[in-house]
Amino acid sequence: MRPIPEYIKQRVKKLRREIERHRYLYHVLDRQEISDAANDSLKHELQQLEARYPELVTPDSPTQRIGGQPLPELKKVAHPVRMLSLADAFGPEELADWEKRWQRLAPRAKTSYLVDLKLDGLAIGLVFTKGMLTRGATRGDGIIGEDVTHNLKTIESIPLRLRTDDLPTAIRHRVLTGAVEIRGEVVMLKKDFEELNRRQRKAAKPEFANPRNVAAGSIRQLDPKLAASRKLTFYAWELVTDLGQTTWAESYDRLRAMGVKVNPRASVCADLPAVAKFHQRIEREREQLPFWADGVVVKVNDRELFQRLGVVGKAPRAAVALKFTAQQATTVVEDIRVQVGRTGALTPVAHLRPVLVAGTTVGRATLHNADEIARLDVRIGDTVIIQKAGDIIPEVVQVLKKLRPSKTTPFHMPRHCPVCHHRVVRRSGEAIHFCVNQHCPARHREGLYHFASKKAFDIDGLGPNTIDALVDERLVREPADFFKLKASELHELPLFAEKKADNLIAAIGSARKVTLDRFIFALGIRHVGEQTAIDLAHHFQSLERLVKASVEAIAEVPNVGAVVARSVAEFFQAPKNRQGVDALRQVVTILAPPRPTSQKLKGQTVIVTGTLNTMSREEAHEKIRAAGGTVGSSVTKNTSYVVVGEKPGSKLTAAKKYGVETLDEQTFRRMVE
Ligand code: IVH
Repeated sequence: MRPIPEYIKQRVKKLRREIERHRYLYHVLDRQEISDAANDSLKHELQQLEARYPELVTPDSPTQRIGGQPLPELKKVAHPVRMLSLADAFGPEELADWEKRWQRLAPRAKTSYLVDLKLDGLAIGLVFTKGMLTRGATRGDGIIGEDVTHNLKTIESIPLRLRTDDLPTAIRHRVLTGAVEIRGEVVMLKKDFEELNRRQRKAAKPEFANPRNVAAGSIRQLDPKLAASRKLTFYAWELVTDLGQTTWAESYDRLRAMGVKVNPRASVCADLPAVAKFHQRIEREREQLPFWADGVVVKVNDRELFQRLGVVGKAPRAAVALKFTAQQATTVVEDIRVQVGRTGALTPVAHLRPVLVAGTTVGRATLHNADEIARLDVRIGDTVIIQKAGDIIPEVVQVLKKLRPSKTTPFHMPRHCPVCHHRVVRRSGEAIHFCVNQHCPARHREGLYHFASKKAFDIDGLGPNTIDALVDERLVREPADFFKLKASELHELPLFAEKKADNLIAAIGSARKVTLDRFIFALGIRHVGEQTAIDLAHHFQSLERLVKASVEAIAEVPNVGAVVARSVAEFFQAPKNRQGVDALRQVVTILAPPRPTSQKLKGQTVIVTGTLNTMSREEAHEKIRAAGGTVGSSVTKNTSYVVVGEKPGSKLTAAKKYGVETLDEQTFRRMVE
């Protein structure tokens, strides 16, 4: 055998040490000193040297993560110490009960709590023998698991060899001569899951629904190539072996020192009020977390006390999972009904057995359109998972097909409008079915609701129920009729006590003066939202000019595209709409649209997401417009700023994706005031 030159040996050693150092920086300390590409390049050099001198390969070399042959089967292995699970607590009362329970068993004990995030992944146990990763196993039934070392080795946040340089001498000796067991959770980060699904879409393959299942599925494979191709992450939550730690917090410190990733958000809380605060903060940040978490794990920090408190069933008495308010729940679809909107759009809506989700009772969920129904294959009688996230309306995300009753039929959109029985049309390239009957009573009624609503004429006391009564009594047929109502007519109706009737007449009276932008918005023209109405009002300055404008002239308005322009022009060309507008002009006074009071946001498009503390969403929009800015509807690369409040929704994610600058409430205030 040819001798290996010393400088090669040294180079290989140094490369390994450097690659390991960057792994530790990146995965454990969340720091990155060199780019991914540079890091790959170091690995590549090492790989080439090892290929040339296979004698130099060691089991803990970073090159040993991938490769390996598929196994014939997964071996069963016994856990040295049983793997427990956790009891759940829902809400602060159950948490207080849990504390009382353990305190009864240890009345004089004093301890703080270690709090960590409860990750929704796959629990695994790792064994390091003399510092080297020798085995990794799934939980299984807690006593026997499956050996999945080959797949776990592909996960970069799991070290192949424990770092020992930062350990006290006695502990280092223990690690290097004995066995160390570490437990934690394998998860797929949100960004990696999204990337995986992007790849699936590109390859015209079905998307994955659930990151937990992807993580578990990848780890329980025979061929390590699959796990290697999926980016997984490991967070440790327990150091089982006694390495001199007296608290869980010290366990976490030791784990970090040994090069094992623990959640950087884990911390120590002195008492339950502090735990509750931590829980609230994390729950608020939930959407922004890099992984999916379903609660906070609370552990009695004192390790000796923890052991002494023992186990009930399969869970330690000294730990509990304080869950987040569920954003998902299962329920049964009792009916699917089709609603007709004011533009004639047909929206299928699932009527559900009422269920509590994220703190509110949900009885309906939108099914969006025919494509979505087909994708879900949702049927009456089905058990479904519904989801409510941020300020989004509840949606059906999945059908539990195994729970489907035996006699069900697929749901199809009706061919006739459920209200006027007129023919329904689905234009090519569009997902939505429309009732095209201009006189459809349902469309008509929705149009009246819209007309009186907050952002339109804003008539107090004129909600859907009142409008229904007025229409049923034939007092109102079109919007102009609202302004012709007399108190004496209303007094005769059962719905109206005298006071209420007078109040309504007064509210209608004060709505008689309206700015042009609100007038345009109130007409309910398809594709014309609040901001477009404002843009049209500013451009044309008078209703006459807008009514007469050609498609081309309308398309010249900033932010107005061809589709919107066509929709506006068509609206004013229809004789029925012209009549309605003329009738309205007889009874209301149209004022010039409000002018911006400053130019601080001139030319900028701003979007608000989440709840603001010092103003409502509407007030924020007014401030943006008063400062000469435009309120955007969805985040694009042309958005100038996204103002972020509490519990922000997907718009924040989109802002990050497009690199759009985000502002907190205070900065926004300073900007516009
Ligand atoms: S500690 C003795 N910490 O949730 C303590 N578990 O539903 C045992 N889990 O079995 C568990 N994140 O698989 C702990 N930060 C965390 C966790 C966590 C997720 C899992 C774990 C556990 C299950 C219980």
